Amino acid sequence: MIVVLGGRGYVGQAIQSELQRRGLAFEVFSRARLDYTQPHLLSAALRALPVRFLINAAGYTGRPNVDACERAKAECLAGNAVLPGVVAEVCSDLKLLWGHVSSGCIYSGAGPDGRGFTELDAPNFSFRQNNCSFYSGCKALGEEVLAGRENCFVWRLRIPFNHQDGPRNYLSKLLRYSRLLEATNSISHLGECVAAFVDCWQHHVAPGIYNLTNPGSVTTRQVFQAISDSGVSDRKASFFESEQQFMSVAAVAPRSNCVLDVTKALQAGLQLRPVEEAIADALRNWQWEKR
Ligand SMILES: NC(=O)c1ccc[n+]([C@@H]2O[C@H](COP(=O)([O-])OP(=O)(O)OC[C@H]3O[C@@H](n4cnc5c(N)ncnc54)[C@H](OP(=O)(O)O)[C@@H]3O)[C@@H](O)[C@H]2O)c1
Repeated sequence: MIVVLGGRGYVGQAIQSELQRRGLAFEVFSRARLDYTQPHLLSAALRALPVRFLINAAGYTGRPNVDACERAKAECLAGNAVLPGVVAEVCSDLKLLWGHVSSGCIYSGAGPDGRGFTELDAPNFSFRQNNCSFYSGCKALGEEVLAGRENCFVWRLRIPFNHQDGPRNYLSKLLRYSRLLEATNSISHLGECVAAFVDCWQHHVAPGIYNLTNPGSVTTRQVFQAISDSGVSDRKASFFESEQQFMSVAAVAPRSNCVLDVTKALQAGLQLRPVEEAIADALRNWQWEKR
């Protein structure tokens, strides 16, 4: 069976749906019932089960956005930097293959040659550069903690979206924010990412770091135009004049906007559609949340 840590969160629920869809046995660990942040408790719980794979979808993301991490630093550090180390130690002891949900928000820009950051590029939006949000810094630290681990996948998501309207869906955010920041990003179809997590295990992909964004990149204006073209909304977009204006009126912490290279994931056989196709498909199947 597969164990999912933080399986009740936004990403965790999508993992649960994927495991159900594939008919795979799984168990969700939630801190309310089992404090898996404590190595001895996590280890004992795993020893009691016939576990073959573990997915760590736990972490502190901040609500309503990453600015909340600036005010909850201990929790952010614990969830994103300390916990991966705890899971790594326990899984190493048990010789258990596992995967950690990380983020592409440890980069800023489009990489040295403009084609996107690869898994070999060192994070450039981290505490080491002293230029990042507390959240991004903690995600980069979490990856440092896992460096050199052999039985571990590190999956980097960015700005998840799918066809289901909701507060965590990027498309929903664009539909509801009163003003938007123009930026270029690689973004992740949530369903394709969680399918890739499970494929890594089922298809015996080599452990390591994988950028899991849909191939390519999009600007905020392009995504908003796709929303308009789809007929999902006829709302008119209003944009901040500049990032400086955005930072002065709407944000506390600097934001990561970046492009990732996904050649490694595609070469490993992981299925990620071109970003324009994945967005168009999500909009074609759009389901409004009942409010
Ligand atoms: N959503 C995004 O935009 C996005 C993008 C890229 C990467 N990620 C990464 O994906 C992972 C899951 O994100 P998510 O959006 O699913 O988050 P979420 O909805 O907030 O769920 C995360 C879960 O983590 C568990 N958790 C463990 N330690 C925690 C702590 N110290 N503080 C808060 N929660 C803690 C909680 O589960 P229990 O209490 O039930 O155990 C919580 O439900 C995180 O590592 C995040 O950095 C998310």
